[in-house]
Amino acid sequence: MIISKVADLRQELKSKDPGAKVGLVPTMGYLHRGHLSLIERARAENDIVVLSIFVNPTQFAPNEDFDSYPRDLEKDCKLAYQSGANYIFAPSDKEMYGANYSTYVNVDGNISRGLCGKSRPNHFRGVTTIVSKLFNIVNPSNAYFGMKDAQQLSIINRMVKDLNYNINIVPCPIVRDENGLALSSRNAYLTDEAKKQALILSRSLKEAKTLYLEGENNAQELKRYIRGKINSMSLAKIDYVEIVDQETLENIDYINRPSIIALAVYFGKSRLLDNIVLEDK
Ligand code: PAJ
Repeated sequence: MIISKVADLRQELKSKDPGAKVGLVPTMGYLHRGHLSLIERARAENDIVVLSIFVNPTQFAPNEDFDSYPRDLEKDCKLAYQSGANYIFAPSDKEMYGANYSTYVNVDGNISRGLCGKSRPNHFRGVTTIVSKLFNIVNPSNAYFGMKDAQQLSIINRMVKDLNYNINIVPCPIVRDENGLALSSRNAYLTDEAKKQALILSRSLKEAKTLYLEGENNAQELKRYIRGKINSMSLAKIDYVEIVDQETLENIDYINRPSIIALAVYFGKSRLLDNIVLEDK
């Protein structure tokens, strides 16, 4: 069932068994297999699955792609039902941010300032605001987030701890295409050539992980290796390549705890993200 009003979704969920486990999958739509893997996981672990589809204006800066962000609600609904969603919550901008809207949730500190926070200063404030609104509306037992957006996941974990949300955050592995490219709605913007060159992202991350497993613990060395590989691609423009503590996202020089190598690279106007986890050896 597709629902566009907060009150209707609340009413619908209230009519269910109070003990029913609700799983929430927040998305901005234009669903791909990455999103569907979250829905399938939610299906397996809950009685009711709510998928939200909302291109959230507060997480886009004025110069970003809010207007051109790809949208296809009809196709999304078909895919979502096939993967096991019971309710699709697709509100309007006005429904989520009505007249005189003034309240924002902001996770402060380095966790939001580094990595993507540097080039997108208000982005995560928009994300945590909409996600906490969705948490309040749906009141789920479990909420599903992809590890592709590693900083988003860490920030949401922080918010859940800090604001005492009684919600279990379930991190889901990155889904890739057959060549290793992390799936993203924004891959729709890539030219064929950019798509080919972008394979360097997952490849160089994987190679760096191998170097780490073979004994290289120096973060500078691994970053230099990855940057060199990416800079050999004519269309690539690096935003950042960093190695950070998996929980706090603080930069690391010597890798001796669970960390991630995270990167953001422009190919034309598409800014692609990818990362890989370095577990303790
Ligand atoms: P969106 O980019 O649509 O992603 C929705 C969810 O799908 C996020 O948790 C994201 O990490 C996950 N996801 C995207 N690509 C994935 C992939 N290749 N493999 C696994 N998971 C993947 O992230 C957002 O929307 C928004 O910021 C949102 C949280 C909905 C708030 O507006």
